[in-house]
Formats: sequence, structure tokens, C-alpha cells
Amino acid sequence: MQANKIFIETYGCQMNEYDTELVKTILTQQDYTLVKEERQADIVMLNTCSVRENANRKIYGRIHEIRHERQGKPVLIGILGCMATNFRKALLDDPHLGIDFIAGPDSYKQLPTLIHEVSQQGQKSFDVTLSEFETYSDITPTRKDGVNAWLAIMRGCNNFCSFCVVPYTRGRERSRDPHNIVQEVEKLVQEGFTQVTLLGQNVNSYRYEDSDFTDLMKMVSDVKGIKRIRYTSPHPKDFPIKLLRLMAERPNICKQVHMPLQAGSNRILDKMNRTYTQAEFLNLVAQAREIIPNIAVSTDIIVGFPGETDEEFEDTVKVVEASQFDFAFIFKYSPRQNTLADRKYPDDVSAEEKARRTIRLNDVQRAISHQKNLAHVGEIHEVLIEQESSKKSPDDFKGRNDANKIVIFPAGPYKAGAYISIKITDATTNVLKGIPV
Ligand code: SAH
Ligand code: SF4
Ligand code: F3S
Repeated sequence: MQANKIFIETYGCQMNEYDTELVKTILTQQDYTLVKEERQADIVMLNTCSVRENANRKIYGRIHEIRHERQGKPVLIGILGCMATNFRKALLDDPHLGIDFIAGPDSYKQLPTLIHEVSQQGQKSFDVTLSEFETYSDITPTRKDGVNAWLAIMRGCNNFCSFCVVPYTRGRERSRDPHNIVQEVEKLVQEGFTQVTLLGQNVNSYRYEDSDFTDLMKMVSDVKGIKRIRYTSPHPKDFPIKLLRLMAERPNICKQVHMPLQAGSNRILDKMNRTYTQAEFLNLVAQAREIIPNIAVSTDIIVGFPGETDEEFEDTVKVVEASQFDFAFIFKYSPRQNTLADRKYPDDVSAEEKARRTIRLNDVQRAISHQKNLAHVGEIHEVLIEQESSKKSPDDFKGRNDANKIVIFPAGPYKAGAYISIKITDATTNVLKGIPV
């Protein structure tokens, strides 16, 4: 039997979403077809995340579920993405999981061969080699319908923050040729996209020959027809003033930035290998706000890193209060195999304490988010319509403003992909609400 109906499920970050789009192109260029439902597929692939333990657990649960649903009927199951590198052996050797093939983030061009090996020769197959060169710049992703196009400009990470598995799962930093990126952006405009989000594990560490991230942003911003440029995820160490100035000058670069703080205590930041101090981080946020007055700033924070005392956690609370983030993703520290933190420091903050710190920090941040959102009431925002009715109510439309905040407004004869002026009339912690003007 020629197994050729494919279904892919994606977990984790935007880079994985993007990679799934690459995999779809690689496979449909061969004789594979994509199906809409997992149950119709001969081959199910899970594009996995490994950043925290619960991400891993979710995948194991899902594999058992798929096997159970099929009740012994044949289906090939493949694991892609960030679990591939670290968990290849455990995944392949577990007879209850019955994994058929595994491909790491740099091996997607091998997928047709890997699938052939298992479906034709009945042999489990894998390739988890990490490459110093693969950027998939020759593959055009099969993009989902929508108003935003993801575009990976670099891959991998050389920072080795002590808690983080990404340098192990995705290998070394490498960037794409800026001219090749610009060509892709021009193509996106022709296809009707007006918003592009540049992606990289360390997007602002981009470097190709003499071009750095600011040079690339300038080139992308010059592309005619592109109205909104975003980028994620940056590292605070690569924010030169010239980048902030460019963001301020160019109307089509969104006034929004993600600045992952991780922790507020200098001792913990040092143990995390983050390369900046509390003062340097606060300085950077202040500088960004000075150069780009209306900029929205979001962040990532880890609570309960090994050895984090109550006082050190309170340092994080202080930095959060001082930074006035628009939004924060707060995570409990989760030890990851191979990382420096896991080898060197015992995970000694209890689960209860991590939960308490998460709740405390969330309370502080939610109050700030709400207040910041309420401050927009009365303003008029340009909103890119994403959805013709919002999840909660069919009478509402959903879009985003320049700062990437969700804006909800009453339904009308508007289309997704259009821009509309909305007067903000109310706000919650997570969304702005308004009416078209
Ligand atoms: N490259 C990005 C981060 C990608 S991972 C950066 O440097 O900011 C996304 C977020 O997951 C991180 O910012 C961090 O807050 C969180 N994270 C990573 N490893 C973690 C771990 N071991 N435990 C808990 N959270 C973690
Ligand atoms: Fe992980 Fe740090 Fe690299 Fe971000 S910069 S991906 S947190 S190692
Ligand atoms: Fe997860 Fe890999 Fe992204 S670990 S967060 S899918 S880079």
C-alpha cells in the first residue's frame, strides 16, 4: 500500500508553525496529499516542542490517543521538531508508542526518504542531524489562509541560556541571505499579505555577511505594499539604538517589541547566563520608550529558577512594576535534559512555591495590563481585521492594532485582511473594545 495521505499537528512556537508550512511544501512536491482530519490520514506527524516538561507530556498523551483511536488499524506516526533531537532513542525504543519515523528541525528535506523507508521497507527511520547551513531558503512555505505571513530569517541559537533546551534541539545560529528574504516579502505582497512577522530563535542576532538585523529591517521596510512588519523572538542583548531609531522612523515597522526579561535578580540573571543586568534591562526598556514613545513591550519570565530566593523573586516583581509591560508570559522553571542548569543546579524551588510566585506575578502584571489597556480608551486605532467573527460572540469581529493588541468591534460589512479605524471605548486585561469610525 502506498501511504500518502498526510496530517500534521503543530505544537510550540511560531517557528514550528512555520516549519510545518515548509514540511507541507516538501511533501506535496512529492506524491503526498494533505488531509484536513487526522482520522483520514495514513501518516500522522506531530511537530513537537520540548521547551518545558508539560510540552513533552502533551505529546506522549497525544500519541497514545492516536493509537487508541485507530484500534490497531495501520497508521504511520512521525515525530518532527524539538523533541526529535533529545528524545530520539526514548521515542523510537518505546514499544507502546510505536513511533515509525523521526525528523529533527534540520532534516525536513529527508522526510520523503524517511517515510519511504518505513512504508516500503518496514524499517523505522530517523534523521536528527543538526546543520550549520540549512535555512530552507529554497522552500516556499505552504501558508495558511490568514492575514499574517511568518517568515524565518534565521534559525538556531548560540546563547545557551542555562535553562534552555533550544540550542540543543535546533543547533547553531545561521541566517538567510537578505536579498532572498526581500524577494520572499515581495512575493507575499503579490499574494495579498500586508503583514509579515520575521522569525528567529534570536531574531535580532541576525547576521549575513555585512548585513545585521537593522540593515535587513530597512530592506524589508522598503518593500512596496508591506504595511506591518513584526519580529520575534529577540534577545535584549541585540538592541542597538539604530534599530530603535529605525523602528521609530518607519511607519510600517510595528511599534511593538518582545523583550524577554526571564528574571529580575542579578544573581539569577547571571546563573541563567542572560548576559545583562537588572539595570541594563531597565535601561533598555526606558530607551525604547524614549525613542518610540507609544511602543508596546511584552516579556517572558521564568519563576522558580534553581536557588531563586523569595527576595530574588521580589526583584522580578520590582522589575515588572518598573517596566510596565503591556503583557507578560510567565512560566514555572522546568528542568531540561542536557542544559547547564539541569546539570549544575538542583530544581529546588518547590512546586507550591513556583505556583505561589506565578499567581503573585500574574496578579501584578494583570493589573498593569488592564491599566495600560484602559489608557487607550478614547483613542482611534488602525486595526487589521483577522476574523470576521470573534470566538466569544458571532456579532463581533476581531483584529489587531499596530501594538499587536486584540481589538474587538461590532460585526459589519468588512473583510478579513482589511484595515479599519476603530475608536476604543473599553478595555479588559487582554483585549481592547471599540466601534468603527
Ligand atoms: N529565544 C527566546 C526564547 C524562546 S523559549 C528568548 O531568548 O527570549 C520561550 C520562553 O520559554 C523563554 O523566553 C522562557 O521564558 C521560557 N523557557 C525556556 N526554557 C524554559 C524552562 N526550562 N523552564 C521554563 N520556561 C522556559
Ligand atoms: Fe533559549 Fe536563550 Fe536561545 Fe532564547 S536566547 S532560545 S532562551 S538559549
Ligand atoms: Fe518549543 Fe522548539 Fe519552539 S522547544 S518553543 S518548538 S524552538
